Amino acid sequence: MNDATTNGRIGSDPFRPIAGRAQIVVTGRIPDSGLEILRASGEVWAWTEDEPIPTDVRDARLADADAAVTLLTDRVDHAFLAAAPKLRVVANVAVGYDNVDVAACNARGVAVTNTPGVLTDATADLTLALLLMVTRRLGEGERLIRSGTHWKWGMAMMLGTGVQGRRLGVVGLGAIGEAVATRARAFGMDIVYHNRSAVDRETERRLGATLVTLDELLATSDVVSLHCPSSEATHHLIDDAALASMRSDSFLINTARGPIVDEAALVEALTSGTIAGAALDVYENEPDVHPGLLGLDNVVMVPHLGSATVETRSAMADLAARNVVAILAGDEPLTPVGGR
Ligand code: GLV
Repeated sequence: MNDATTNGRIGSDPFRPIAGRAQIVVTGRIPDSGLEILRASGEVWAWTEDEPIPTDVRDARLADADAAVTLLTDRVDHAFLAAAPKLRVVANVAVGYDNVDVAACNARGVAVTNTPGVLTDATADLTLALLLMVTRRLGEGERLIRSGTHWKWGMAMMLGTGVQGRRLGVVGLGAIGEAVATRARAFGMDIVYHNRSAVDRETERRLGATLVTLDELLATSDVVSLHCPSSEATHHLIDDAALASMRSDSFLINTARGPIVDEAALVEALTSGTIAGAALDVYENEPDVHPGLLGLDNVVMVPHLGSATVETRSAMADLAARNVVAILAGDEPLTPVGGR
């Protein structure tokens, strides 16, 4: 834990703006190293409970805030911005920023930053873990042991699907998609990808990856892995029609964002055998999970753990903090989102 075990200004309480010092509000718990970096730039107030910050508490703090460090569970919308008339930057501690109304921020001259790069490996590692879990039925195996059911090794017991020589379809070959493809290559998988535009030739060559249409990717991949951002354009990209076009022995992996998949359609596809299985780190209405998924053996589910390593979460907090420091100093942010 950090040194602020109760909510409040780190190192001094109660909250009273000090003239001339920038006011920085951190809306949730972040690693100490990030708070340390922020303290160099101003007075830091951080919410340190596991429960989400109550809106009235948040708004009271935002009233004097020059900078806000936010988590993916925050909604940075018109109401948030209206409570923060002095705000200069929203530093979102995540690579995804679908929780931030970037246009509304930019219209008020508020910069938005995210944390790309530092969580690429952790998220790609988790994607491969899920891929292996679902193809090798590891969740089922674990449940079997934990249930205390009697079992005996057998040649035909709980057979899964090998990945060697199988096709991985990467939807969104950005940094994370590329890191997933690199790992999958090491497991002997062939790679196709779908992007708005092709990646450079050298990357395609290194990954042995071919650009295909989404239709072709869905129809021909043994495993489809989603790595595109969540936006209006990608909302329910994987709907019942997309699932119907996948092979009946194929698997879907989602470590990107829940709303990219129509969860009700996925339940139907998994129940009816339209696809063989799915592995999910993210959910359409997080933290709720479609009740239809809970009883299915052919789905593996973990609670949004993509970037959840000690090292990665520190690196994310540090990068968000360094973006705040840069903007408060009048410098360019390190990892800006959109314009300003
Ligand atoms: C995690 O989901 C992130 O976007 O960083």
